Amino acid sequence: MQGGQVPRVFLRLLMIFHILHELIFCEPQESRHLLLFVSPLFIHERGSPETLRDPRGFAVKFYTREVSYTDLYCLLSGFEGNFDLVGNNFPVFFIRDGMKFPDMVHALKPNPKSHIQENWRILDFFSHHPESLHMFTFLFDDVGVPQDYRHMEGSGVNTYTLINKSGKAHYVKFHWKPTCGVKCLLEEEAIKVGGSNHSHATKDLSDSIAAGNYPEWKLFIQTIDPDHEDRFDFDPFDVTKTWPEDILPLQPVGRLVLNKNIDNFFAENEQLAFCPAIVVPGLPANAPKCAHHNHHHEGFMNFMHRDEEVNYFSSRFDPVCHAERFPMPPSVLRGKRDRCIIEKENNFKQPGERYRSWAPDRQERFICRWVEALLDPRVTHEILSIWISYWSQANKSLGQKIATRLNVRPSI
Ligand SMILES: *[C@@H]1O[C@H](CO)[C@@H](O)[C@H](O)[C@H]1NC(C)=O
Ligand SMILES: *[C@@H]1O[C@H](CO)[C@@H](O)[C@H](O)[C@H]1NC(C)=O
Ligand SMILES: *[C@@H]1O[C@H](CO)[C@@H](O)[C@H](O)[C@H]1NC(C)=O
Repeated sequence: MQGGQVPRVFLRLLMIFHILHELIFCEPQESRHLLLFVSPLFIHERGSPETLRDPRGFAVKFYTREVSYTDLYCLLSGFEGNFDLVGNNFPVFFIRDGMKFPDMVHALKPNPKSHIQENWRILDFFSHHPESLHMFTFLFDDVGVPQDYRHMEGSGVNTYTLINKSGKAHYVKFHWKPTCGVKCLLEEEAIKVGGSNHSHATKDLSDSIAAGNYPEWKLFIQTIDPDHEDRFDFDPFDVTKTWPEDILPLQPVGRLVLNKNIDNFFAENEQLAFCPAIVVPGLPANAPKCAHHNHHHEGFMNFMHRDEEVNYFSSRFDPVCHAERFPMPPSVLRGKRDRCIIEKENNFKQPGERYRSWAPDRQERFICRWVEALLDPRVTHEILSIWISYWSQANKSLGQKIATRLNVRPSI
């Protein structure tokens, strides 16, 4: 994630997790220190205008309490300390196979020869990944340029496995919804705002907090019982899919209010690190606030003076103790470990549904943005045909409209 002039603010989570459902969030009405990090841009470089079309990062660091168990029992971490919920402003991601992440980033980044971001490279790479269509129905939609950070959604994107105190696992997705609603900048507005105030969104966030107009998000979860994971036409762990809200409703679990600006950008923002898998040691902003940690403290930009001789866990020389044990559900696994395409790819249904859910003018803007991207002279006829075929499979008339405007005869 390109942390640009990353606005980051301390915040308190007020009245966190007041509904419990049967799972994770246990202590109601509790005020908690949290940290929110939104990165202006994912692809573009630091200092780029905040009006560019780009996914935005949305990550929250929960400092767990100094008590014997955490609110969140997370299989992925298994630790008490920090829980870092790292995601972005769209609920899905471009690709399914994490091994392709570096290639994806290279395609999105500037051409290594010219240092110019070029659509033909992006469209070439993603033509091999029809699962990216869903993410493109967000990026090339109006929400691809949020008005500012207050009017932007956040999402955990990944599916988490959370275990409650009885040892029952649930699959969970996290969603942050701004209470002031979602707002976007259309092309002409974006040019105007970006042309005069290139970090307008950072300023908006900071000004709003300073004025006491605290930005606020509601936190929702969706849950799937692991026993039901085969009931859907998608794989619940596929990051290119959303969980339909009509069958897996959003359940409100908390509220997040940004009520304090940072005091020092470098110390509290530039050095902020998120790790979805484990406690992040070392730096004050990243260090857990509770007694549980794993002693690991070396690493990039670590400036704290330390003289401990024990940097491993467990140790009889150090009082740090294990968090209270909680039950982990056992599972019997049998089968073949393989690297292959998942069974339920279903790459076109959700992008098609999303397109059809829009009003005609919004569909038209989406088509225009695609036509413009595909007009890059280095997009070959082959690549063009593949994209037209993909969009046709999502929605026939969408593919046809793009083909007609590009003067291409669709091959399917
Ligand atoms: C854990 O989840 C199961 C199944 O939803 C439920 O029956 C049980 O009461 C839950 N336990 C706790 C402590 O919430
Ligand atoms: C740019 O920022 C200034 C100062 O906050 C504001 O007065 C002005 O309206 C902004 N311009 C645009 C085009 O948003
Ligand atoms: C494609 O989208 C249009 C516009 O929303 C809709 O009228 C049409 O029924 C869709 N076509 C298919 C095949 O789903």
